[in-house]
Amino acid sequence: MTSMAAKPGIDTGRPHPARVYDFLLGGKDHYEVDRELGEKIPEFMRLAAHENRAFMRRATTWTAQRGVTQFLDIGTGIPTEPNLHQVAQGVHPAARVVYADNDPVIMRHAEALLVGTPEGATRYIEADIREPGVILEQAREHLDFERPITLSLIAIMHFVVDAYDPYGVVRTLVDALPPGSHLALTHVCLDGFAEAGEELNETYTSAIEAQSRSYADIQRFFDGLDLVEPGLVATPRWRKDAPVPPGGERHPTYAGLALKR
Ligand SMILES: C[S@@+](CC[C@H](N)C(=O)[O-])C[C@H]1O[C@@H](n2cnc3c(N)ncnc32)[C@H](O)[C@@H]1O
Repeated sequence: MTSMAAKPGIDTGRPHPARVYDFLLGGKDHYEVDRELGEKIPEFMRLAAHENRAFMRRATTWTAQRGVTQFLDIGTGIPTEPNLHQVAQGVHPAARVVYADNDPVIMRHAEALLVGTPEGATRYIEADIREPGVILEQAREHLDFERPITLSLIAIMHFVVDAYDPYGVVRTLVDALPPGSHLALTHVCLDGFAEAGEELNETYTSAIEAQSRSYADIQRFFDGLDLVEPGLVATPRWRKDAPVPPGGERHPTYAGLALKR
């Protein structure tokens, strides 16, 4: 796999989550430093990256089919087709999508994120989820907060370690949404992974600030919301008949979708 040539304004000296994730997904928008870390990540996390994308597609389609036409996706990542706006606009050509990410490398790809249907609208905000007020202020310029919105936090909250009040961040975002909105969230959980999990934790978090959480702690992100069936489950099991993996149900990421009443 070839890595990108260094671009001004982008820190190529240390790995970044979006670029390591791109490597795991088999993309080509990463640097040597991202590839070096990505190569140390076990196969189960590589599969989990693909499963996260698949959950994003299923959850987006599910809420769009129930009438949601507005989407706020924070922690967008480097574009990987189909992107969220393509899925949403596949159901509602006039769907409006706001993307937000704090990695400047994504801005270089904004074109891929901003080309949607002529009837719909897609916007990109460079911002940090740890400042949810800033994201909400900018999102309000493009989305109508009087009508339901699907908030997607797919594989991002494990990058918001406890010191940054992750539950407060999600509460601020969810509080701003009107009834009929949804929260779609996936999160890393290495509880059942014993040594492999510890090794991954050490390898990854020595380079990138991140935190695995327990099932119960992931469930807390949905406090005050109604989890839709089948609840918080191993990501490939959310509304899909994935086979039980060898060794049982343990899975490195969990996924849930909840309704705000
Ligand atoms: C693992 S990728 C997930 C991408 C996409 N949501 C998906 O599931 O395919 C995590 C993304 O979150 C972004 N991210 C990490 N910390 C962030 C923060 N504090 N604020 C905004 N974005 C952040 C990274 O730049 C990266 O693009």
